[in-house]
Amino acid sequence: MFEGFQSKRRKVNTEHNAEQSKPWVEKYRPKKLDDVAAQDHAVTVLKKTLGSANLPHMLFYGPPGTGKTSTILALTKELFGPELMKTRVLELNASDERGISIVREKVKNFARLTVSKPSKHDLENYPCPPYKIIILDEADSMTADAQSALRRTMETYSTVTRFCMICNYVIRIIDPLASRCSKFRFKSLDASNALQRLKYVAEQESVKYKEGVLERILDISAGDLRRAITLLQSASKNIGYSGEEEISVALVEELAGVVPEDTLAEITQLVSSGGFDKITQYVNEFIKKGWSATAVVSQLHDYYIKNDEFDTAFKNKVSMILFDTDSKLTNGTNEHLQLLNLLVKISKSI
Ligand SMILES: Nc1ncnc2c1ncn2[C@@H]1O[C@H](COP(=O)(O)OP(=O)(O)OP(=O)(O)O)[C@@H](O)[C@H]1O
Ligand SMILES: [Mg+2]
Repeated sequence: MFEGFQSKRRKVNTEHNAEQSKPWVEKYRPKKLDDVAAQDHAVTVLKKTLGSANLPHMLFYGPPGTGKTSTILALTKELFGPELMKTRVLELNASDERGISIVREKVKNFARLTVSKPSKHDLENYPCPPYKIIILDEADSMTADAQSALRRTMETYSTVTRFCMICNYVIRIIDPLASRCSKFRFKSLDASNALQRLKYVAEQESVKYKEGVLERILDISAGDLRRAITLLQSASKNIGYSGEEEISVALVEELAGVVPEDTLAEITQLVSSGGFDKITQYVNEFIKKGWSATAVVSQLHDYYIKNDEFDTAFKNKVSMILFDTDSKLTNGTNEHLQLLNLLVKISKSI
């Protein structure tokens, strides 16, 4: 009897720990459609489907960390409930093989199955519509062949199966598939919506932060809420180590690899006054400190373009230079040389 009691307690503890040790992005993944922030259009339309048995095939697209995967998972949960979901939903993402053979076998086999019967309990609590849902997450990484093979499957089994395709780049989805789906565009989260959600996470986790920290985190993450929440979590882990009591803007910038404001001021100052030798020397030191050239490019872009001191002709020139450097860096060229080239070119056009 005593032993039974012990083992039960241990189980409760591990469950509790599992919830505690989850990354915050998972812990605060929206559980209901109502929890999804900012994506009003998608949420309103999808909520209507909860009231009727009608659901089209769907295509969700938009930048990372804006709630696409969370929305479809929340929808399936609300439609079927946690039990029925197991037999009614098939989720495939980029970590699964998704060449043409998988579409022919796994997807087709699941699509053709007749729908499982809901239990009495599920029927009372959830809409339980008479179809299954196949989620193809990160569908833009499916080969064109595999996408083509889906066309027939989608039509043939549409009485018992709905597809939801999710991607970042909608142009990588072949036209005939895209035209079979209702499209939902997920926008980058705007500052106020994202701030609300981030504040909520910070409150739940009792995170202490200085003024302006959350705004800076959102600034750095540029509409990607996943990145923002992850950054908040790393910062909150770091206050313990660095001995500070609250998260500061400097800590957040350090963790995100952002070049600090005063270093950026040094660079712009050097570009407008220093000659080639000084720039070379500075770049040598700068690269040794481990800053990334890509970060400099994007920060210089903000600095020059948003600054009214510079005229349009100059802004145009700088944009072209920055664009050129960015594309070369993306192609994997040497950071040191690119940065040197960038600063010298800008300094020449001033
Ligand atoms: N609109 C949102 N409302 C609430 N939380 C969100 C929202 N968007 C993102 N999040 C948070 O970010 C995490 C990641 O979101 P999600 O997996 O849905 O992004 P995604 O759009 O599928 O991104 P990807 O294109 O990279 O797959 C969620 O667990 C949640 O914590
Ligand atoms: Mg996703």
